[in-house]
Amino acid sequence: MSDILLSARDIRRDFSVSAGFGKRKRLVQAVRGVSLDVPRGGVLGIVGESGCGKSTLAKILLGLDDPTAGEVLFQGQPLSGMSRMTRAAHIQPIFQDPYLSLNPRKRVETIIGLPLRVAGIAEREIRQRVHEMMEMTGLPTRLAGVFPSQMSGGQRQRVAIARALISRPELVICDEPTSALDVSIQAQILNLLQELRQELGLTYVLISHNLAVVEHIATEVMVMNRGEVVEHRPTAALFAAPESAYTRMLLASVLTPEPGKGLPEISYDAA
Ligand SMILES: Nc1ncnc2c1ncn2[C@@H]1O[C@H](COP(=O)(O)OP(=O)(O)OP(=O)(O)O)[C@@H](O)[C@H]1O
Ligand SMILES: [Mg+2]
Repeated sequence: MSDILLSARDIRRDFSVSAGFGKRKRLVQAVRGVSLDVPRGGVLGIVGESGCGKSTLAKILLGLDDPTAGEVLFQGQPLSGMSRMTRAAHIQPIFQDPYLSLNPRKRVETIIGLPLRVAGIAEREIRQRVHEMMEMTGLPTRLAGVFPSQMSGGQRQRVAIARALISRPELVICDEPTSALDVSIQAQILNLLQELRQELGLTYVLISHNLAVVEHIATEVMVMNRGEVVEHRPTAALFAAPESAYTRMLLASVLTPEPGKGLPEISYDAA
């Protein structure tokens, strides 16, 4: 029997969007009944066109947003019943753009150590663990005193990874973790994520536009279209013989890994 770390049960998320002055609000159904299980030690890849609801789902899995309906369970316990601190101790995010997720006014060691400081851990131990984490993420400790603006994009993403892992979460939710980086740096960061998974026994949810990345790293893949799950199977099986017409189309299309731009518009009639 596999050990399920995270489960989502029939998650829905509606947004009520203003259609302009004097106009009636429009309902956007960003996530429409998604269920999933993430086994401990696995990597669930989530793929789908821009706007299909991946980031909305990611925020809900992180407990950063509440679903309109449905429930997320971490080790069988509802996420909604946990304190922010407890949730953060188990589940951490890594987002696309380290420019936006790192405080520009704080030094690297302060940024990485923040989760421990919030948890009330002694300064001496924080220092030691920050240095240990910097080593694990390939950051020279001489960078401890610099600001994010003095670092390269790859180094900044390493800082974001170090901060995410310092409190030793079991689950890391990565939303386009390398899309904002130069192509030459992307592989380094992906390799680092792989190494850290082995070393620390982590479980990942990995959202990526880059199907090659997902094929390489994910143990199972979930394909989303317009807020729904189209197909969810072990990686090798899905890539070898996609079952749904939508997945086949996605695999056949040329995908732009351009940050924030999403995929080219693809028209598709459900099969
Ligand atoms: N806060 C919000 N308010 C209103 N609509 C939203 C909000 N967040 C997301 N949406 C809408 O929900 C849908 C799903 O968006 P989401 O960001 O989850 O897609 P995505 O799959 O992550 O796309 P991308 O690949 O471009 O990152 C889109 O139609 C988006 O416009
Ligand atoms: Mg997104």
